[in-house]
Amino acid sequence: MKNYLNILIVSLFFAVMAFGISSCVSEKQLTEAKSGAQLWAENCVRCHNTPSPTSYSDPQWDVVGLHMRVRANLTDNETKKIIEFLKSANN
Ligand code: HEC
Repeated sequence: MKNYLNILIVSLFFAVMAFGISSCVSEKQLTEAKSGAQLWAENCVRCHNTPSPTSYSDPQWDVVGLHMRVRANLTDNETKKIIEFLKSANN
């Protein structure tokens, strides 16, 4: 009986862990699925007004993207998407 309880507790523990990990993964996939425009609108406004895509040229957006990537704690992929969006919208 005691052994049975232990096994139950251990499997419950793993079930909770697995749930925790899988919910993390789905949250990450959610961010990955977001478009550059969405990421731009959600992230850049946290610290200052969202800069208009027309404010800077393409090479300037590359530099701004690297600076703000560090500040906003963005992933490589998110930064790439935001920069692509800003470049595509500034013509
Ligand atoms: C954690 C806060 C933070 C986030 C998030 C953030 N920025 Fe900034 N940003 C700053 C600060 C602070 C400055 C001013 C200091 C500087 O230029 O180094 C700045 C300056 C800028 C400037 C230059 C403005 C000027 O007048 O020179 C641009 C352009 C810019 N950010 C774009 C962005 C974009 C695009 C994003 C989204 C990807 C973003 N920022 C996200 C903090 C942030």
